[in-house]
Amino acid sequence: MTMPPLLAALTGRRGPAPVWFMRQAGRSLPEYRQLRARVGLPMLEACLVPEVAAEATVQPVRRHGVDAAVLFSDIMIPLRLAGVGVEIEPGVGPVLDHPYRTRQAIDELTRHSYGSGSWTDAAGNARDCGEGARAVRQAVALAVRELGETPLIGFAGAPFTLAAYMVEGRPSRDHLAARALAASDPGAWDELMGWCARVTGDFLASQVEAGASAAQLFDSWVGSLSPRVYRDSVAPYSRRVASRLARARVPVTGRRAPLIHFGTGSAPILADMAAVGADCVGVDWKTDLAWAIEQVPGKAVQGNLDPALLQAPWDVIEQAVRHILATGRAAPGHIFNLGHGVPPTTDPTVLTHIVELVHDAGR
Ligand code: CP3
Repeated sequence: MTMPPLLAALTGRRGPAPVWFMRQAGRSLPEYRQLRARVGLPMLEACLVPEVAAEATVQPVRRHGVDAAVLFSDIMIPLRLAGVGVEIEPGVGPVLDHPYRTRQAIDELTRHSYGSGSWTDAAGNARDCGEGARAVRQAVALAVRELGETPLIGFAGAPFTLAAYMVEGRPSRDHLAARALAASDPGAWDELMGWCARVTGDFLASQVEAGASAAQLFDSWVGSLSPRVYRDSVAPYSRRVASRLARARVPVTGRRAPLIHFGTGSAPILADMAAVGADCVGVDWKTDLAWAIEQVPGKAVQGNLDPALLQAPWDVIEQAVRHILATGRAAPGHIFNLGHGVPPTTDPTVLTHIVELVHDAGR
């Protein structure tokens, strides 16, 4: 059996660039909007219905012919399953019942939610966590069965991005409260980040153990950190997630799942992000791809078409795609993607054309 192009690119076997899109499942697809309307559940609840999650996962593969599926889930799912009160407010993002800003609130969290057990075998809030964890594994298994040869990418939020939501309680532009906590109470920060690393590491590993053959760790908001704070107060916890993942094995192949590590505004810390144990770094649209490749010798890269270009005339898009593909050849492996998620207003036929272009260029 030949290795799927995505896994070949991630393991340093040079070949035509595979393509997928962050946020390829979701509101840009009419079939997704229909599915959500039919099911009538809020976002996080919909993620926990295996048939719904599997269907939303497979939709973009059917439509666009992308080289990978990404699990329909959310970085907030492991928090919800661990007992944190969180909802996704449409048009806003994750909103928590209350922020976790004080030593007391964080102690309370680590003592009462999730217990000391692993996510797949939970003590503490065992019932919710157990059922939810089973639902995620079942969604993975259903999707993998339908996908056949196309690999499924599992994903999770990195500890900092989760902690940023937990300390702020809702989306924030510069994550001031989270940065303040890291600086002013290192003990509380360590407790919170350690907890986040554990729940999200178990979430990611459980997707691999259920059949996902690659993984992406989203540290979407690391761009608000200085390199020194990243290295001292964030990277050690991301490394724990990467180590947890490295111990997980994909069923059937018995291999470990290679790790893609992505953040936005991450140019100053790309090498540090790679060093936590990633096989590939995701490059955002603001970063020059050729420069990024030089920062991470020996690693594959993923990216980095500006999502804004999806609104541009086709000749502009085509030129940008060809330029990215040509640049990507300097890396040991290149996965074509956007520099961040698909905007919900995107015309999905544009994405299909980009997939065709990337595939034609690789022939
Ligand atoms: O196709 C895919 O990429 C798979 C699914 C996926 C979702 N969320 C589904 C989703 C992935 C990979 C995520 C990750 C995620 N979730 C991140 C990291 C990626 C990034 O964008 O940097 C973050 C920060 C979140 C938190 C979150 N969830 C936000 C900010 C939002 C948007 C809220 C809004 O309405 O604008 C969500 C909701 C969400 N997650 C949607 C989808 C498809 C949209 C909600 C809906 O369809 O009702």
